[in-house]
Amino acid sequence: MGRERIKIDLLIHDLKVPIAVIEAGLTSLLRRPEKYGAVTEKQERVFKRALRNTKVLQALVNDALELGRAREGIVNYARFQVSDIIEQALIEIFDLTYDDISEKIKTCSHLHQFKEVLETKDVHLIVDEGLWCEEICQDEAKVRQILRNLLNNALKYRRSRVELKVDKKDNAILFAVCDDGEGIPAAYHKRIFECYFQVNSTETGSVRGHGLGLAGVLVLVEDLGGRMTLESDQGQGTRFVVEIPLKSC
Ligand SMILES: Nc1ncnc2c1ncn2[C@@H]1O[C@H](COP(=O)(O)OP(=O)(O)OP(=O)(O)O)[C@@H](O)[C@H]1O
Ligand SMILES: [Mg+2]
Repeated sequence: MGRERIKIDLLIHDLKVPIAVIEAGLTSLLRRPEKYGAVTEKQERVFKRALRNTKVLQALVNDALELGRAREGIVNYARFQVSDIIEQALIEIFDLTYDDISEKIKTCSHLHQFKEVLETKDVHLIVDEGLWCEEICQDEAKVRQILRNLLNNALKYRRSRVELKVDKKDNAILFAVCDDGEGIPAAYHKRIFECYFQVNSTETGSVRGHGLGLAGVLVLVEDLGGRMTLESDQGQGTRFVVEIPLKSC
């Protein structure tokens, strides 16, 4: 790794401590009224929003570090349950938008309950019960980051509906993320994977972002030995399919 890159990664890494301090402070204010005094309902809402955003910051710092590791080709294989990464990715996303849904997801103990909660936001999960409970071996943080970015885009660019289909085929896990939004004209299918590229905002409606998510997803998918396909056209919605080979561990 080049010296400049190490310095940048160290800076990102060092953001963790102040964020953790802010998080601990806000948590104490909310959870220990006997020590800090009772908070009003309005104050509680503000503290909770601030706390959610420290979580977002933590996730972003971890993503930035994870991308650095991917750039170095470092992978961390471990066993985890399919349900865990999907739940986690969706909690991270909904924490930003509909935190009540995140709270509900955390209380779900069965697949059908989880699906029902998602359906209240027109997000449809298609996965069979066996695969949902199965343990697989891959780099969990990277798979979650891939999923989160694709789902974030689908939620951001949808008209109303998002679908996540999970499958297993030939010792690979497949995630298909579909939405019913404006779609991506064929002419841009390569360019959207370039850093900072965004399809003209007049064509997609002006939605904020940096044009970095998909470039990162592509690096991660390739690092895991997987592949990604895109089916979309103007006015036709979008479907990204990611296929990631499973390891043995
Ligand atoms: N599901 C989708 N439907 C329509 N357009 C999409 C979709 N996903 C990506 N795009 C287009 O591809 C571009 C690049 O996506 P990418 O995720 O890299 O960046 P972004 O979402 O704009 O910003 P961010 O860096 O926050 O992810 C988007 O700006 C958008 O124009
Ligand atoms: Mg994005």
